[in-house]
Amino acid sequence: MVLHYYGHSCFSVNINGKHILFDPFISPNELAVGKVAVSAVPADYILLSHGHADHIADCVAIAQRTGAKIICAWEIYEWLGKQGISNIHPMNTGGSWDFGDFRVKCVVAQHSSGLPDGSYGGNPMGFLLFSDAGNFYYSGDTALTLDMQLIPRWAKLNFAVLPIGDNFTMDVHDALAAADMVQVQTVVGVHYDTFGFIKIDHAAAEKTFSAAGKKLVLVPVGGSTSV
Ligand code: NI
Ligand code: MN
Repeated sequence: MVLHYYGHSCFSVNINGKHILFDPFISPNELAVGKVAVSAVPADYILLSHGHADHIADCVAIAQRTGAKIICAWEIYEWLGKQGISNIHPMNTGGSWDFGDFRVKCVVAQHSSGLPDGSYGGNPMGFLLFSDAGNFYYSGDTALTLDMQLIPRWAKLNFAVLPIGDNFTMDVHDALAAADMVQVQTVVGVHYDTFGFIKIDHAAAEKTFSAAGKKLVLVPVGGSTSV
């Protein structure tokens, strides 16, 4: 599976020719300037982990341009509906749905979820994504939580996408513990460097993983990796 990284926690995977985009935050991201054009990002599906602006800033514009189906919490579904977006599949923590090209299960994330206008965004969520091309876990913004120990009951994972930037989420050490809990060898790191609060030492982060026999992949903004 090829994973494209658009900066911060925004990435996409291509399954059955469909572009599945997560947490679009591109136009406000200084690190994406000149590397990613939001007007050229393809999407057939958009998955939103929670309502914070650094996860949904470009969602409406991309959905309007592409007609992509948005998968998100009930409360974000209601908020998007007020902005004229209608191709949305609402879900909530614990639920799963088969979208044909892939199946999604929504799992617990320990975080918060307000929307940019101050309205309530429902529960933040992580996603398990199952497909013929492989299975992966995107935790969304979260603390390390014992709920992650449940994930191997539901999924044999090829890789996980985890935040590593600290301050608002797990740091790299907690992400390593999360990788143990969900039983993956390979982690794609996200939610780092974008703001002053979450700048990290890349070499030290990669070493933390390699010393534990695991692999941390840090993809350049606008780049891609095979996972
Ligand atoms: Ni957040
Ligand atoms: Mn965030």
